Parts: sequence; C-alpha cells; structure tokens
Amino acid sequence: MNQGLDQRLLTTRPAPIGIFDSGVGGLTVLREIYRQLPNESVLYFGDTARLPYGSRSPEEILYFVRQILTWMASRNVKMVMMACNTSSALALDQVQAEFPFPVLGLIRPGAKAAVRQGKRIGVIATQATVNSRAYTNAVQEIAPDCQVWEVGCPQFVPIVEQNQIKTLEARQTAAAYLRPLMAANIDTLVYGCTHYPHLAPVLQSLLPNSMQYVDPAISMVAAAAQELDALGLRSTVPAWSTEFYVSGSATDFKRLAVQWLGHQPQVGQIRLPELALRPQG
Ligand code: DGL
Repeated sequence: MNQGLDQRLLTTRPAPIGIFDSGVGGLTVLREIYRQLPNESVLYFGDTARLPYGSRSPEEILYFVRQILTWMASRNVKMVMMACNTSSALALDQVQAEFPFPVLGLIRPGAKAAVRQGKRIGVIATQATVNSRAYTNAVQEIAPDCQVWEVGCPQFVPIVEQNQIKTLEARQTAAAYLRPLMAANIDTLVYGCTHYPHLAPVLQSLLPNSMQYVDPAISMVAAAAQELDALGLRSTVPAWSTEFYVSGSATDFKRLAVQWLGHQPQVGQIRLPELALRPQG
C-alpha cells in the first residue's frame, strides 16, 4: 500500500481495545466483544510461544503481562481486557496502576456472576489460577455464604491448542476433572480459563441438566461497556477488522482459529525480543 496513505489510515483509525491470552482462549472473549461491543476495534495478542501460562510461576506471568501491556501501549490501545484468567488472577492488581488506560480482568466479574447463579460454586481453571485462590477469595468477599471448589485442569489447554476437543481423550479427561465437583454437589460451574468454553459441549454433556454455567467473559465485557461509557470512550463508528498477532506460529494459529471465527484471519507474528521489557529509567 502507498506509504503515505498507510500512515494516514493508522493515525485516523479509532483506538482499539487490546485483548490478550496465551493462545486461542481469548477468542471466547473476542466473541463476547463482537456481541456486546460491535463498534469496537480489537487488537488481539496470543502469546503462543510461551503457552501454557497455567504452569508458569506468578513472577513469570507478571513479567509477560507487563511486556504485553507495554507493547499494547505502543499500539495506542484505549483499554485492555485480559482475556486470560491466569493473568487476571496473578497480575491484574499489580499492573492496573502502571498503565495510562483501564485494564480489566475476569476474576471479579466472574465471581459476581457466579454468586448470582448459585451457592455451591465449582471453578475449573489452570493450576496457577487455582493456586492463587483468586476465585475463592473473590466469591467469599462478595457472598461469604457461598462455597467454592476449585479444580486445576492442566490437560485442557493442550487439548484445545492441539485441536483434540472432539476426541475420546478429551472426554475422559473432562470426566476425571469433573468428578470431585460432582461429588461436592455443585450447582454452578465457572469456566475459570478462557480456553474452556471451547470445551463446553463436552463438559455440558457430562453434567446434570440443572447445572448453571458462568462464562466470566460475558460479565467482563459488560463491565467494559459501562466503563467505556463512563469515560466517553465508546466508539460510534464501525469497527475495523480485528488485528491478530501471536508470538509463535501465525500459520498454526490461523488453522486453529478458523473454526471459531468462521474465516481465516490475517495473523502477524511478534517475535519475543520485540516484547522485551526495557528497564524503566
Ligand atoms: N486461557 C488462559 C486462562 O484463562 C491461559 C491458559 C494457559 O495458557 O494455561 O487462564
């Protein structure tokens, strides 16, 4: 494209909302943005070179999140939604004050939605999220009479990222993870990792019909809509196509994502050195 025109387009385009995840989990949040905020343009980052986040230490997760937000700041985002529960559980409180735009997480919106639905709440999440007890603490802060059972499901992210969702292994793995939650007689199940709504057909086929489901993305995006209104930041012009970037293979992400997006997205690659955090000073 003509360089002058390219530059003019970039400077006149409305500021996007940034969302990030370790991989394709963020697409379950993107789907909610398309539904609730159709005029908002989105910059999507999948840190596929470093997934899964769920087996990382809290320090690593905080470091990755700072890198990603710093890169998103350079792309002029007006808001960031963490499309990753692990990042929300381990890094949200620390980074919120460090950037000049609002940063939203999934845990509190998810906990609020859960206590509206039931009293015996099961949370399936990554091991890092479970270890943080973020969901238990958030639920009990809002509704001390609710009980929470959290189960780490380390096999789910590889199953989704390797496109094994419809296999017998996925079903058997899900049945094993759900067993302690069934034994606890939960009435509500929170998808405490954004990859897991991709497994909803399998999970729901294994649980009783009376089960209530919470996808925290629905409430986070609703909260984002309110915040955009409060700050006068809501877009009034049509969105431009979502820009996708990954740190791993763009081809692999495209191949996997097409089933949820309904079209092959254009995906760019950001090499990790481009994300390197320079010391402040
Ligand atoms: N989808 C992310 C989450 O919601 C991260 C999963 C992972 O990479 O382990 O926690």
